[in-house]
Parts: sequence; C-alpha cells; structure tokens
Amino acid sequence: MASKQSRRRLLALAAVAACLLLLPAASVATDVSYCDKHKDYPVKVSGVKIDPDPVEPGKAATFNISAYTDKPIENGKLVIDVKYFFFYVHSETRDICGETTCPATGDFVLSHQQTLPGITPPGSYTIYMKILGDSNEELSCISFGFSIGWVASS
Ligand SMILES: *[C@@H]1O[C@H](CO)[C@@H](O)[C@H](O)[C@H]1NC(C)=O
Repeated sequence: MASKQSRRRLLALAAVAACLLLLPAASVATDVSYCDKHKDYPVKVSGVKIDPDPVEPGKAATFNISAYTDKPIENGKLVIDVKYFFFYVHSETRDICGETTCPATGDFVLSHQQTLPGITPPGSYTIYMKILGDSNEELSCISFGFSIGWVASS
C-alpha cells in the first residue's frame, strides 16, 4: 500500500522529470566540447550559436562558432559529421574561407549554414567539426549537440 510519503516522493519525481523534459527547449547556450579533452588545440572554440533552435528539417540552419586563433588561418577545411545516436547521417567538407573571412586572426566567427534533409527524424543530434589547416594538420576538433524539431513551422 502506498503511503502518503511515497506518493509525495512520486509527485516530486514527476515534477523533476517534467523539468528535465522542458530543459532542452529552454536552453539557449550550447555546450561545446573538444574531441580530445587533453589536447591543446591551436584554435580555441568558445561557443556555438544555433539559429533556429531547434533546427527545422529541410530548412537552412546557421551554426555560428566563436573561435580564437594565434596564427592567421589563410587556408583550410572544415570537416563536418552529423550523428544521430550512433549513425552518421551527414558528412561534408567545406572550405574554411567560405565560412569566415580569411585570413582569420584573433577572435573570429565561423558561420556555417546547414540544411538537413526534410526526412531527417526529429531528435537529438551531434555535430563533429574538425578544422584542418593548409597541410591537413588538425587545428581544432569540437562536438556539440543540437535538436531537430517535429514539423517545420511557418
Ligand atoms: C551568424 O553570423 C553571421 C555572420 O557574422 C551573422 O550575420 C548572423 O547574424 C549570425 N547569426 C547568429 C544566430 O548569431
């Protein structure tokens, strides 16, 4: 037989669960982590801004990555992998100078536009982004999550 106390505990749990469900939609800042947390990457990334958030399937989304470099980047590539759970759903390589003004020095922003197919299921995704230099050396490697909403609102 459920006591009053255990019923109250259940209610509290339900309230916590409800808050957790609401959190992703309410969060604004996106956490970025380095692929290798022990590595000192030459290019530092401080944050990502996603617009719209959640991303709408079949519509262009903008990922603005705030970064910092000591050495000017004249040339390079951005290697992007998008993962849905354990599946790679999208991969592409972009010219870094198409996403920022080259040479990039000091604080700079990589503005990356991405359209994922309209059939992309809603849910939580992870983007892995590698910044490669002139001779394919790894300047940085980050990952961050984003979510895709249900139907495109208009
Ligand atoms: C992303 O960066 C571009 C170019 O700097 C800017 O025009 C745009 O407003 C930014 N978008 C967001 C969501 O910060």
